[in-house]
Amino acid sequence: TLFEQLGGEAAVTAVTTQFYANIQADATVSNFFNGINMADQTTKTASFLCAALGGPKAWGGRNLKEVHANMGVTNDQFTTVIGHLRSALTSAGVAADLVEQTVAVAETVRGDVVTA
Ligand code: HEM
Repeated sequence: TLFEQLGGEAAVTAVTTQFYANIQADATVSNFFNGINMADQTTKTASFLCAALGGPKAWGGRNLKEVHANMGVTNDQFTTVIGHLRSALTSAGVAADLVEQTVAVAETVRGDVVTA
């Protein structure tokens, strides 16, 4: 699975931590996370990604369409955020083809997150 190829839960969590660091350093998307506990956010998103990448534990959290329903995220903002995931994967030393396969999994939630 992609989960195994990336190095399992520890590796996905490390990438997710860097992903949110990149987001918080980008003023075009950081405001969405004002007041959000980023440690919890990292744990939740890492859990979601582990499941989506073929990991052994099912996602036990909320439905992503409901979670993101009233945020007004645009397609461009989602693309920006995907770029931050791509950078996090690349800076962790993940091979380019594995980066793109992982990004493709994250892209499957675009329709649940984008509402504007
Ligand atoms: C929750 C914003 C993309 C997965 C949240 C929350 C915010 C947010 C503000 C916290 C909601 C709350 O606690 O009240 C955004 C924005 C995105 C984006 C602005 C893109 C522009 C994504 C992507 C994923 C994702 C790409 C998955 C790969 C999650 C998960 C939660 C969450 C798992 C927690 C759900 C739960 O509480 O059970 N998002 N998100 N988000 N987001 Fe996103």
